[in-house]
Amino acid sequence: MTSAPARRGEPVSLSAALATFDELWSPRIVTAVNDYDVRIAKVEGEHVWHVHDHTDEFFLVLEGELTIALREPAGERTVVLPRGSVFTVPRGTEHKPSAPDGAAILLFEPTGTLTVGDRHDEVPAHVDATTGHALDRLMDA
Ligand code: NI
Repeated sequence: MTSAPARRGEPVSLSAALATFDELWSPRIVTAVNDYDVRIAKVEGEHVWHVHDHTDEFFLVLEGELTIALREPAGERTVVLPRGSVFTVPRGTEHKPSAPDGAAILLFEPTGTLTVGDRHDEVPAHVDATTGHALDRLMDA
């Protein structure tokens, strides 16, 4: 498991944390709240259609703009989240995040939640199927 927050008990600058990695669609765990992880990710292009059967998934856009396609009972729709926006994908709703011009996002979801959910389309090579990686050591300012 790599889910232990790297700096538990220490403040974490999100901008400093984002500067420690370049991998896309590959979340880092910055802290935990009870049994939830706070993860950050750099994203660009398309993720993969997937669904979390047992948990909602919270998104906060830190930089850029994120789009999330949703398959709902009434049909498919897309929500656009500019920087500073939050959105929660309800459990059981198929979704596919994308960011044509790139974005940085924060996710809040139960520890152990897979990035590709419980069911998903074929995972493309550029998507990391993970429960989140530990944050590397931050550079001390
Ligand atoms: Ni998801």
